[in-house]
Amino acid sequence: MAKKRRTRFICSNCGWETSQWLGNCGSCGQWNTLEEVVIPDESGQKSHKSRLRSHGTDAVKPYSLDEIPVSEADRLQIGMGELDRVLGGGLMPGSFVLLGGDPGIGKSTLALQCASMLTGQKTLYVSGEESLAQIRQRAHRLDIHAKHLRMYTETEIMQIIETVRSEKPGVLIIDSIQTVYHSALQSMPGTTAQIRECAALLMQLAKQEKVTVIGIGHVTKDGDLAGPRILEHMVDTVLQFEGDKQSHHRILRTLKNRFGPAQEVGVFEMDNGGLREVSNPSELFLSEFDPSVSGNAVVCSMEGTRPLLIEIQALVTPTSYGMPQRTASGFDHRRLSLLLAVLEKRCGWQFSQHDVFLNVAGGMKLTETACDLGVASALVSSLSGKAAMEPVVMIGEVGLGAEVRRVTQLVRRLEEAQAMGFSHAVVPQGYTEDSNILKVSAVRNIDDALKKSGLI
Ligand code: TYD
Ligand code: MG
Repeated sequence: MAKKRRTRFICSNCGWETSQWLGNCGSCGQWNTLEEVVIPDESGQKSHKSRLRSHGTDAVKPYSLDEIPVSEADRLQIGMGELDRVLGGGLMPGSFVLLGGDPGIGKSTLALQCASMLTGQKTLYVSGEESLAQIRQRAHRLDIHAKHLRMYTETEIMQIIETVRSEKPGVLIIDSIQTVYHSALQSMPGTTAQIRECAALLMQLAKQEKVTVIGIGHVTKDGDLAGPRILEHMVDTVLQFEGDKQSHHRILRTLKNRFGPAQEVGVFEMDNGGLREVSNPSELFLSEFDPSVSGNAVVCSMEGTRPLLIEIQALVTPTSYGMPQRTASGFDHRRLSLLLAVLEKRCGWQFSQHDVFLNVAGGMKLTETACDLGVASALVSSLSGKAAMEPVVMIGEVGLGAEVRRVTQLVRRLEEAQAMGFSHAVVPQGYTEDSNILKVSAVRNIDDALKKSGLI
């Protein structure tokens, strides 16, 4: 009699496992996310986990914390400032970095450039998406001639692991994690079970062989990393490209980092020679700022550890339909509605018969509430048609009573404004320090802020 195949069901959202099919996941509650996975028959062969363990060099035993030799000096500096910044000061040896982003945004380009710059490290670039000739062509276009860089087109994970063990590279690049598969699993490459298994094996490899793994990951149409959420939990660092492909800027954000601050941002420009770092992003985000146009405002947002000055543009026009439109790009839609409600109820600015469009320059996504005051003043400026005329940075969170609330790291934000040549900043009340170059107006509420910035 044929032996019955053993199967399990794994949630593609959170990785939860069950032996029976269910309509919704018992852990995250999502509907229709359970995928059937055939469990490989291990009776005749050694399980791949034990096979992998037998290759391991170190016997696993507990260590005292002080005995473990590690220092910041171990970090591999790539030499591209913006990339080192998002990694928290360089690549940590033996870590697993996941690099995500839309197709065509520049993941493979960045990985290749990064590999070429790590001259002291033997690097193995495993590509499952492009042929060797295509990679060669790209390298030629980028003017990369790196002797330490070895190219390999393989997608079976155990083969890749064997090669890594024999070649002993310092850095391993997997392009992409969705194309590698484990032959013992019957599901297709890119499915939850495959991604989960391959990522777990790569993570073990990274820790055992002290090889730094950079895995490229695809994103779904909603902008999340494809594959199970647990992939993000497993890896040490998650970097994601933001911004749109049409513009030349590329924004790389740290979503998670076990070895440095999260939410750090690196800014790059894509040109014929590949990705080039932009070392002064505020200059880039303000390059077309014109204070004499109504609806424009400048905010200062802390992106990780760095303050960035960013231009906000609002356009408020009478609506032609019964239902006014609210469109925001780079800013939370609900936060925009909240600010409009505060301006209507507390300050008497009527937007109910107007369409509102809000845009954040340069493809940045603003999440900090410290940008509220700038957004509110851009909205009022566009509605009234009055421009500030003098460049002013607006810093402050807006409360439901139209009060301007305090923000963190105000001094650092003011220093950035000063460095970028601004002579005036509007900040929440309570700021008492003397600033001798920059004029600082401390305000209590939105009306105060609008008066101080010359908008009313
Ligand atoms: P790529 O790294 O292949 O994207 P991903 O791996 O994220 O899918 O980037 C491809 C895009 O980058 C493509 O639209 C062309 C552009 N590009 C340049 O503009 N200049 C360059 O030097 C290179 C190599 C690519
Ligand atoms: Mg690619």
